Amino acid sequence: MTDDLLALKHQTEAALAAAADLRAWDAIRVGVLGKSGSLTALLKELGKVAPDQRRERGAALNQLKDALAEAIEARRVALDAAALEARLASERMDVTLPPRPAQPGLIHPISRTMEEMAAIFGAMGFAVAEGPDIESDWHNFGALNIPAHHPARADHDTFYLPPAVPGAAPPVLRTHTSPVQARAMLERGLPFRVVAPGRTYRADHDATHSPMFHQIEGLALGRDITLGHLKGCLIDFLRTFFGISNLPVRFRSSYFPFTEPSMEVDIGWNRKTGELGGGGDWLEILGSGMVHPKVLANCGIDPSVWQGFAFGMGVERVTMLKHGIPDLRPFYDSDIRWLRHYGFNPLASAMLHEGV
Ligand code: DAH
Repeated sequence: MTDDLLALKHQTEAALAAAADLRAWDAIRVGVLGKSGSLTALLKELGKVAPDQRRERGAALNQLKDALAEAIEARRVALDAAALEARLASERMDVTLPPRPAQPGLIHPISRTMEEMAAIFGAMGFAVAEGPDIESDWHNFGALNIPAHHPARADHDTFYLPPAVPGAAPPVLRTHTSPVQARAMLERGLPFRVVAPGRTYRADHDATHSPMFHQIEGLALGRDITLGHLKGCLIDFLRTFFGISNLPVRFRSSYFPFTEPSMEVDIGWNRKTGELGGGGDWLEILGSGMVHPKVLANCGIDPSVWQGFAFGMGVERVTMLKHGIPDLRPFYDSDIRWLRHYGFNPLASAMLHEGV
């Protein structure tokens, strides 16, 4: 190889060695082998070389071209590998670092209370029953001995929905969970015990009422279920739920169209401090009674053979009492700060089902 070719070879090799990245590398490649590259120019000038030297010069140029092409490719491979190494190093993760603590989701107090109630009644042999939020007039009222024009309807501030057929009784947003009683009687074999927690609706909205709220309904039917069973069941439930083994419980005569006799149930508390127990005052907490024979008959059950008790209770009220939650409205605000404060750990909730 002549001196000029050797010089080009060394110069190119030195430049390649100094090329720090693929951009610099590409500039060298184009500068040597490109259309106006230095080696390309030498090849173009081959025609001007004297004929007797042309062969030797051509062979030397080809040899140099091969050598440089190889060196250029080798440098590209090396730069690629270095780039990959650098990337791997910059993206390295320390898998031995402890994970960041995850913020766990929390159970809403209403859900928690309904789960607790289902667990306590479940231990007493009650299954959980469900019904739809949009009810027929018959399930919500008629079956429960509240016919059209019955004065009890006026207490319910009912949301009526457009009827499916013009002139038919309009469906309603259920005003209580009691229609699930009628559904259970129609669907289940006797005897049975069910509780039905769920959403209920009334067109009533102020500081202590929400148009959507929750109730839990209970129904126990058998051949010889008595008022004594009703009292024992509800006293046990209330003392277990509030965690106060001697909580005073009072049964007060009342009226509901679907029970006879009917009783409202009060628990002892201190009106001034809000503390539950033997504080000398009474707080109404739920409605109950022996299922009215007309209700049994409406749902296809022979009242001369079967009887039982029923009860219904507001979920928000007892949740506020149990956990000292002062205001009803934030229950439905989805404010994460409120939920963090009053919400429940889901794992503790899961244990509840095994614990009771
Ligand atoms: N449904 C009643 C209400 O919403 C509560 C109730 C009272 C339910 C007595 C019952 C019962 O099953 O026996 O106010």
